[in-house]
Amino acid sequence: MALVRKGALSVRATVLPRLAMPACARRGGTTLGYEPMPTALPSPRASLFPRTAWFDRRTPAALSAAPKQRGDARARGRHAYQDIIDGLLREVPGISPKYFYDQKGSELFTQITEVPEYYPTRTEHALMVGHGPDIARAIGKGGVVIELGAGSCEKARGLCRLLQPFYFIGIDISADYLQDGVARLRADLPGLDARAVGGDITRGVQLPADLPQTHRLVFYPGSSIGNFDPPQAVELLTHMRELAGANGGLLIGIDLPKDTAVLEAAYDDAAGVTAAFNRNILSHVNRLIQADFDPQQWQHRAFFNTATSRIEMHLEARTPQRVRWAGGGRDFAAGERIHTENSYKYTVPVFSKMLAQAGFSQPQAWTDERGWYAMVHART
Ligand SMILES: C[S@@+](CC[C@H](N)C(=O)[O-])C[C@H]1O[C@@H](n2cnc3c(N)ncnc32)[C@H](O)[C@@H]1O
Repeated sequence: MALVRKGALSVRATVLPRLAMPACARRGGTTLGYEPMPTALPSPRASLFPRTAWFDRRTPAALSAAPKQRGDARARGRHAYQDIIDGLLREVPGISPKYFYDQKGSELFTQITEVPEYYPTRTEHALMVGHGPDIARAIGKGGVVIELGAGSCEKARGLCRLLQPFYFIGIDISADYLQDGVARLRADLPGLDARAVGGDITRGVQLPADLPQTHRLVFYPGSSIGNFDPPQAVELLTHMRELAGANGGLLIGIDLPKDTAVLEAAYDDAAGVTAAFNRNILSHVNRLIQADFDPQQWQHRAFFNTATSRIEMHLEARTPQRVRWAGGGRDFAAGERIHTENSYKYTVPVFSKMLAQAGFSQPQAWTDERGWYAMVHART
C-alpha cells in the first residue's frame, strides 16, 4: 500500500518555466549564468519530474519496482535539487518547508516545542491526556497506527499506550531522526511491532507488505496539515483516507484561529529558536544543491496573514546577496524574501468540510478550554 496516487495538483501556481529569467531580475534580483554541472548532481536542464505534480505521478507499482536504496537516494537527490532550484528562481522565491528537516532541523523543531510561546504541542498533549479515554473509545483499541511526520515519536508513545495497537509505522522525511525515535518506542513498548519508514509523504511512501489492510488509524498530529494550501491539504487528506482503508480512521491535530499576538509569538519566540530553525533551512539547502547561502545574512520574519488565515514564515536578505549553487545561482536584493512556510489556521467547521471533501465521515472534535487547538477524529 503506498501513499501515492495519480492525482496531481500544482503546489505553487506561480512556478516559472524552468530556466526562464525570473521576473525578480526585472526588479533587482538576477539569475546568474549557468555553469558546467558537477557530475554528482543532475543538470538543471534535465526534465526529471513533472513540475506540476504534487504527488509523484508514478504508480505504487512503479514505486515498488524502484531499484535499491542507492538508486532511490540518487532519485531523491535529483528531485530535491530540481525542486529547490525551481523554488529559488520563482518571482516570489520559496523553499518547501519539508527541507527544514535535516538532523539539526529536527532537533531544533523539538526545541521549539519546549519554548513557552509555542502552545500547539503542549495544548495537543493536554487534549490527548484529558480526552484520552473518549478518543480511544471513538477509535477502538488494537489495529495499526500509521503516523505521518512522526519525528521523535514522542506523540506516538502516548497514543500507543492509549490504543495498544499491534503495529506502529512511523513515516518521516528525516529518516535517521525517525529511526532513533522508533528505537526508543520499541524499547518502551516491547509488545509493539514498531517500524520506521523514511520517505516524503508528498511523493509516495512504500509501506511494509505484511501490514494488515484493515483497522488502520492514520495519525497526523502537530497541525502539520496547516503547511499545505487548502486544495493540497484536501488532496493529502484524500490520500490519507485511501491509506487508512476500510474500517479505518484519521486522528489529526489542527491549530485554530486566535489572537494574532499569540500566533505571531509562537512563530517568533524570544529565545530565537524558531529563527534558528528557519535559518537552518539554508544550511540544509547548501548541502542539497551545493549552494553558498550565508544563513546569518538572512533575517527571520513571521507574521499572521489575516486574509488567508495563515502564519507565514520568510527569510529576508539583510543586504544584497549573490548566491551560487551547482550549475547556477541568483542575486537577491536587500529586503527580498524567501518564503519558507505557511501554517493555516482552520476553524473546526471549515476543517470538517475539508474532511468531507476528502471522503471522511463522522468527524468528532475535542478542543481545549481556550479554543486554541483541536484533535479531530474521522472515519473512512
Ligand atoms: C512540525 S514537525 C511535527 C513532528 C511531530 N509529528 C509533532 O507533531 O510534534 C513535522 C514533521 O514532519 C516531517 N516532515 C515534514 N515534511 C515531510 C514530508 N514531506 N514527508 C515526510 N515527513 C515530513 C518532519 O521531518 C517532522 O518530523
